[in-house]
Amino acid sequence: MSVIEQSSSPTTNHAVDPAPWWRQAVVYQIYPRSFADANGDGLGDIPGITSKADYLQGLGIDAVWLSPFYPSELADGGYDVADYRNVDPRLGTLGDFDEMVDALHDRDIKVVVDIVPNHTSDQHAWFQEALAAGRGSAARQRYIFREGTGQDGSQPPTDWESIFGGPAWEQVADGQWYLHNFAVEQPDLNWACPEVRADFVKTLHFWSDRGVDGFRIDVAHMLTKDLTEPLPSSAELRLIPMDGQHPMVDRDDVHDVYAEWRLVFNSYDPPRTAVAEAWVDKARVPRYASPEGLGQAFNFDLLQADFDADQFENVVRENLQLARVSGSSSTWVLSNHDVTRHATRYGLPHPPREPNGLPAIKHGLEWILSGGESPELDRHSGERRARAATLFMLGLPGSSYLYQGEELGLHEVADIPDSARQDPTFFRSGGVDLGRDGCRVPLPWTESPDTAFGFGEGGSHLPQPDWFSGYAASGQDCDTGSSLSLYRRALQLRRALQTGEQLEWIDSGRADVLRFRRPNGWEVVTNFGTEPYELDRADVLVSTREVTDGTLPGESTAWLASDPV
Ligand code: NOJ
Repeated sequence: MSVIEQSSSPTTNHAVDPAPWWRQAVVYQIYPRSFADANGDGLGDIPGITSKADYLQGLGIDAVWLSPFYPSELADGGYDVADYRNVDPRLGTLGDFDEMVDALHDRDIKVVVDIVPNHTSDQHAWFQEALAAGRGSAARQRYIFREGTGQDGSQPPTDWESIFGGPAWEQVADGQWYLHNFAVEQPDLNWACPEVRADFVKTLHFWSDRGVDGFRIDVAHMLTKDLTEPLPSSAELRLIPMDGQHPMVDRDDVHDVYAEWRLVFNSYDPPRTAVAEAWVDKARVPRYASPEGLGQAFNFDLLQADFDADQFENVVRENLQLARVSGSSSTWVLSNHDVTRHATRYGLPHPPREPNGLPAIKHGLEWILSGGESPELDRHSGERRARAATLFMLGLPGSSYLYQGEELGLHEVADIPDSARQDPTFFRSGGVDLGRDGCRVPLPWTESPDTAFGFGEGGSHLPQPDWFSGYAASGQDCDTGSSLSLYRRALQLRRALQTGEQLEWIDSGRADVLRFRRPNGWEVVTNFGTEPYELDRADVLVSTREVTDGTLPGESTAWLASDPV
């Protein structure tokens, strides 16, 4: 028996716009410093993105999401923002930004920018002012400053650890300590301070007025905090339930912030959109995604799943259910700037696990430390599975987020010398965690190492391996069997096929084969196993491996449709 699922139901209490653009969009994430370098300084920039507008249009995406391009000392790849309403001079000017928006809009591509509200850079004017103004000042109220403990206050206020490793408090010259949940250079803001709130509203208007269509909200679950004394120890903190009253994570009152932002978004026509990066208990995700809040929330479950039919099916069922609760559409992600690329994850024989059972994605790189060519990594299997997983994802209702370079089938770059690494997670973990540089290496556009594989004349800020030439966009452009051609074909078809948000599971007759139908007879079949699977239909629109005589090979996905597209 088949069951029809739909990501949101018209019978929910929410008044849902039937089809705002983002509900079933394909959003392509650009990590600007590693996308394309127009001025040859070794760092990708905004004009570089503009120069690739035709490429992006040809790919067939609906929107780009730009990771931070704001002035930053790059203590955390730009997520340490020194000025929220400007462009890093190394990446261009506001004029360049406007040109990029125009170029993308001319090609029907929407623009989403990253907002980083939990913390600023320590170079932000506010933090510099707070350091100069001293204890008790209004300037320090914008951040979370506390006295130390011990007789002379030389010990941190608590033993809390930062998410990037090491202590979460840093002492300043006059002896006070400030909280930083991430790197030392990322002081947490105090969201109880009205000036902080007002300033972010100003920032949202600033970019919306410049034509930006939406926002990705960094660490959306941690802005508001209740740090009334006495502060709990880290052991006590871990025991506090995440029920909306936790001192630091996923507090109910964070939604007051988003309710105010929603008024800003809705003051534009069309309303600006937002997506929350919120690592919270599943049951609490819908509130972030509600139409009164940010409107959509990331779901990172596919990204954490193995290439496994059971796991994929559960992830889809659970998240379509959550979308029904929020009234939003689901989001799907296989790769982003924080995790090992999915072609590599799927090529590792035994993805290592954290003690809690989650895949230890970053630590998985220990398997391929010998330069990405370790016998442990089966590149071809990884790529085969990655294509199958991607085509599965693109068949789902909701919005799919792609990460730059995945369309080329790129693998993680594992062999970055320690001296070239940039990610604070590498340094703060004493090198135990290799960090995220391996998925942030500048893209190979051409086969020529002289121009950093077409990235730019000035080299590349992270070293590119020789094998990049085999993945260059130029080499894949006209090759109908390439990963790039597959993504283009799939995205073109998806535009034509995508109508309602229903999904109907079909019994495939095999535990390792998932099969579902979308409106208009569009079918998606993924064979997670290695044994070929007999399709009972021959009308294949696209597949990740060749379908011969109705046989779908192992580790592949096919799309079928009753009506020719
Ligand atoms: C989540 C971002 O995706 C990540 O790259 C960043 O390091 C942290 N937030 C801190 O801003």
